Amino acid sequence: MHDKTILLIIGGGIAAYKTLELIRLLKKRGATVRAILTTGGAEFVTPLSVSTLAGDKTFTDLFDLDDEAKIGHIQLARDADLIVVAPATADLMAKMAVGLANDLATTCLLASNSPILIAPAMNPVMYEAKATKRNRTQLAEDGVHFAGPASGDMACGEEGEGRMLEPALILNKIDALLNQKKIEGPKSLLLSGHSDRPSELLLEGRHVLVTAGPTHEPIDPVRYIANHSSGKQGYAIAMAARDLGASVTLISGPTSLPVPDGIEMVRVETAEQMLSAAKTTLPADIAVCAAAVGDWRVAKNADHKIKKAGSKPPVLGLVENPDILKTLSQKGPKRPQLVIGFAAETQDLIANARKKLKAKGCDWIVANDVSASSGTFGGDRNQVTLIIDQEVEKWPSLDKQEVAQRLMVEAAGRLTNNKQAAE
Ligand code: C5P
Repeated sequence: MHDKTILLIIGGGIAAYKTLELIRLLKKRGATVRAILTTGGAEFVTPLSVSTLAGDKTFTDLFDLDDEAKIGHIQLARDADLIVVAPATADLMAKMAVGLANDLATTCLLASNSPILIAPAMNPVMYEAKATKRNRTQLAEDGVHFAGPASGDMACGEEGEGRMLEPALILNKIDALLNQKKIEGPKSLLLSGHSDRPSELLLEGRHVLVTAGPTHEPIDPVRYIANHSSGKQGYAIAMAARDLGASVTLISGPTSLPVPDGIEMVRVETAEQMLSAAKTTLPADIAVCAAAVGDWRVAKNADHKIKKAGSKPPVLGLVENPDILKTLSQKGPKRPQLVIGFAAETQDLIANARKKLKAKGCDWIVANDVSASSGTFGGDRNQVTLIIDQEVEKWPSLDKQEVAQRLMVEAAGRLTNNKQAAE
């Protein structure tokens, strides 16, 4: 981020203390951070702490003659590659939604053409209040990007949605947005094909493993047990990773989709074959398990077609299949840095997805509602919720290709952050 200027607006909420960590992370990444502390924000953190971390003056007052002479508020707004509002209070969001400009923060927000990312933080009841919901919808319509909020325990003692996203995850979003900005032009090309690769190859030099499609667990030579899965989401992820410059191995169960260009494709039928192919594919930097793997296989599949024998149907003894996601998530020298699983649920989406994250030991879970009414199976759109530790982030309903692209840009951000943290 060496050539990037972030204008950081710190609103008046208890989460403001977390924003100090965000400044530290941004500075570590080489960004120039200009901070505006609102009057409310200054009740929680001091201009001195902000300035010390940002290595620059903290701006507070719209009518500061000295500041206006040196760097006018319009300039402050225009210089920014990205404006980040963290914490974004209910009050700030309301002002943004109606376009108020009665202090330095809101004036800069209105006077800028730069992308805006907000990290909402407020009491869960305030977040769900009708007025806030209206403002959220308006802001999303205006093109404002959201980082969180997360769900969990709140400083006020309540529990629910409204906790500010952890600084490292906001940083991920910032990364993704700055990168997305660079690749915005060829976005549609980005999704269309190998020959139209964007110039910004965020995953260049990386190896990405993707499992996709269903598995077929044979009962006999003509029958099998399978799950519903078109493979579309997994294939889209493989193509998005490829378009970002990664070398991709796509391990696919039986699907009717064409083999994507520029991807190493390994076709398998069963879960055991999928696991064996995944192990052979390692090492990989990222593993995305999007396959709908059969949980069970027939203990002993018949060599010949089982005949209908009068009225008595055959009894199929089942054994559990190996869990590919869990196996790839196990600690060890070959564990990919980032292992992403999917949780297709028909009820209690978030609770079940959280359980899955823990049980499988993966890093992220992409949860999606696959109840009949969602239209996810076989459809082209997907509404997913990304779960990272305690953080829960609901994405809007998107094209499966867009989900894939976002996911891979975020994943690239995570790898960059890991690298920075290790240095
Ligand atoms: O346990 P469940 O099937 O609901 O978990 C879903 C996630 O686990 C998906 O990411 C899927 O690809 C992965 N999975 C797997 N191997 C299995 C079962 C599920 O990789 N045997």
